[in-house]
Amino acid sequence: MNVLVVKANNRPASEAVSSKMYETFMENLEGVNVTTYDVFAEDMPYFGQDLFNAFGKMQSGETLTDVEQRILAAKQKAMDVLTAADLVVFAFPLWNLTIPAKLQTFIDYVYAAGFTFKYDENGQLVSLMTDKKAIILSARGGIYSTPEAAPMEMAATYVKNVVGGVFGMEIVDEVIIEGHNAAPDKAQAIIAEGLAKVAEVAKRNSAVLV
Ligand SMILES: Cc1cc2nc3c(=O)[nH]c(=O)nc-3n(C[C@H](O)[C@H](O)[C@H](O)COP(=O)(O)O)c2cc1C
Repeated sequence: MNVLVVKANNRPASEAVSSKMYETFMENLEGVNVTTYDVFAEDMPYFGQDLFNAFGKMQSGETLTDVEQRILAAKQKAMDVLTAADLVVFAFPLWNLTIPAKLQTFIDYVYAAGFTFKYDENGQLVSLMTDKKAIILSARGGIYSTPEAAPMEMAATYVKNVVGGVFGMEIVDEVIIEGHNAAPDKAQAIIAEGLAKVAEVAKRNSAVLV
């Protein structure tokens, strides 16, 4: 069993709650083959026309520019690590109501017809990653779990719609730490309780995967 952990925060764990969630998960995962894909450490040019130009040049045999070579290699690597994984863990913050741009780039690389989804003969979307499981670990300083605020939350909701809704992975666990900035007096308790849940999730999945 292969576990892929997509780490999407380069702030230190002493300051960033979602980095601490990543660290806690790794410390409590045992006996499985685990790979971290650190989106901030990878060379990942933004998704756009450079990629389509690169595809065209590959077909025609033209020489690729530096950025075209880099984006092709980066996309291939992202697809390869996802293909190799049985369980994919996403550890990310909510920043400005959404996910960090680097995580968006990872998703852009793997969100591809014929790879993570396809359309059938009736035009229906068919998920192609239904054999994989996913875990969501996310932190947000405000509270977004109320019915009024939930539509504003475009980090965990987005990742779940992509990997669960489109790619078809089974989301087996989700830990959200929220409200620690909104209620500083309760912050320590909120974070400690959330990290205990992360540890539990890591241990439970270690037992399942071994
Ligand atoms: C650049 C940045 C943007 C943020 N934007 C929001 C936001 O829109 N809403 C919110 O409730 N908290 C926001 N926060 C607070 C984070 O959600 C909070 O720090 C949480 O723990 C996740 O980020 P972290 O893992 O980097 O700490 C922001 C924090 C940073 C560093």
